[in-house]
Amino acid sequence: QLVEPFDLVIFGGTGDLAVRKLLPALFHRFLDGQIPASSRIIGIAREALDDAGYRALLREALVSICDAAKLDVFLQQVFYRPLDARKDDGWDDFAGFIGAQPDHIRVFYLSTSPELFVDICARLGHYGLNQGKSRVVLEKPIGRDLDSANQINDAVGKVFSESQTFRIDHYLGKETVQNLLVLRFGNALFEPLWNAGHIDHVQITVGETLGVGHRGAYYDRAGALRDMVQNHMLQLLCMVAMEPPSSLAPDAVRDEKLKVLHSLKPIDDSNASQLTVRGQYRVGVAEGASVPGYPDELGNTKSNTETFVALKAEIANWRWAGVPFYLRTGKRLPSRVSEIVVTFKPVPHSIFHADAGTLKQNRLVLRLQPDEGVKLWLTIKHPGPGGLRLRHVPLDMSFAEAFGVQQPDAYERLLLDVVRGNPTLFMRRDEVEAAWRWAGPILAAWTAGGEAPRPYAAGSWGPSAAVALIERDGRTWNEDSE
Ligand code: BG6
Repeated sequence: QLVEPFDLVIFGGTGDLAVRKLLPALFHRFLDGQIPASSRIIGIAREALDDAGYRALLREALVSICDAAKLDVFLQQVFYRPLDARKDDGWDDFAGFIGAQPDHIRVFYLSTSPELFVDICARLGHYGLNQGKSRVVLEKPIGRDLDSANQINDAVGKVFSESQTFRIDHYLGKETVQNLLVLRFGNALFEPLWNAGHIDHVQITVGETLGVGHRGAYYDRAGALRDMVQNHMLQLLCMVAMEPPSSLAPDAVRDEKLKVLHSLKPIDDSNASQLTVRGQYRVGVAEGASVPGYPDELGNTKSNTETFVALKAEIANWRWAGVPFYLRTGKRLPSRVSEIVVTFKPVPHSIFHADAGTLKQNRLVLRLQPDEGVKLWLTIKHPGPGGLRLRHVPLDMSFAEAFGVQQPDAYERLLLDVVRGNPTLFMRRDEVEAAWRWAGPILAAWTAGGEAPRPYAAGSWGPSAAVALIERDGRTWNEDSE
């Protein structure tokens, strides 16, 4: 698909996200011929760099994963301007630079701390850079709670209309997440069973092996609930739970997700201690090496920030009443695995003799990473004449094996969606607000409870209370992911 010429301005251009994700994603799109020759990618940060300095920084960061000659060609389309959102210096020059290509689509990607969103947008508005084919991309988390999210959305909304505003959640750009839509609504098989009558429970796990590394300053103010649950995990939950949209039109999909968010049962001081578990990693072993605990990595032994959350959510509507959605996510877990596991109810009556083995419940496992694919666990007869024995085996579809292609990174898809002006996979303002409305009382209950997060050894699956959370209900975390 052809892409119109664009200027993509990345505020936070020297930051972790820009260097590790956005620039590599753009480079891959460049290799596929989707960055028109007159398009410009402009990094913005406070560091006193020039174009050559920025290109050198990116070259060093990217050269190990790229073809160096092609990278050098790509970098010719990359520029840098030093700017401070709170100071005047350099803005005139920047506005002139952008204004020089008035016909280009303009994308302003705010990959900075959310506290700066308001100042940056005010400046962009002041210079009229919000006019024409301009779009703004807001990285998550948008604010720290409902009030701050509202303030940001109000201030951004004074400069950019809702249709110009793209609130990114990169989990929606992951191939398996989009495939969930196709699996659910492109097959007649699942939808009749996709409800409380047939589904026992749903698990969503997003495990990471990495610690917080040099992102401590951001992370310690956020914690796992704000960093992962309020956005990525809830978006996954919405994609599993939403009603069939009438079409794939952006608002049709987002309306359905919003209804799910509105139907989440509140978790607050009355039930947070039963329904949630917070953890913080301590010294342990990750990927074979011994690693420090979170307080040491951060240099602050008093931090109360959680690096792990497990919780039991429920969606109070006709389709899902009584079906638990168990969510867990954490840093320094034993493997980097993200998956959605839908467990169906047991058969109503077993006709098999006890010697045949136990019947297990069917499970549909959607693996987002590392090896994207879909597994449907079925019970079959163990082959051979030796009597009737039951086996639990997966119908296993690995995307890499089936299609022989490396899946594109989520940002590749989403960045081009912004350029093309397609907001389907971005969060609307009301979605972000509804997500905060649910997450806020959990945070408030934790603060009021005053309990420190439970320690867990780096390289383990979180505190034992997370296991107890699901085992109390007679269920277990999907062992495949462990
Ligand atoms: C980001 C979080 O949004 O998602 C990070 O801020 C987290 O803390 C990352 O590591 C996980 O993304 P992915 O695509 O690597 O699973």
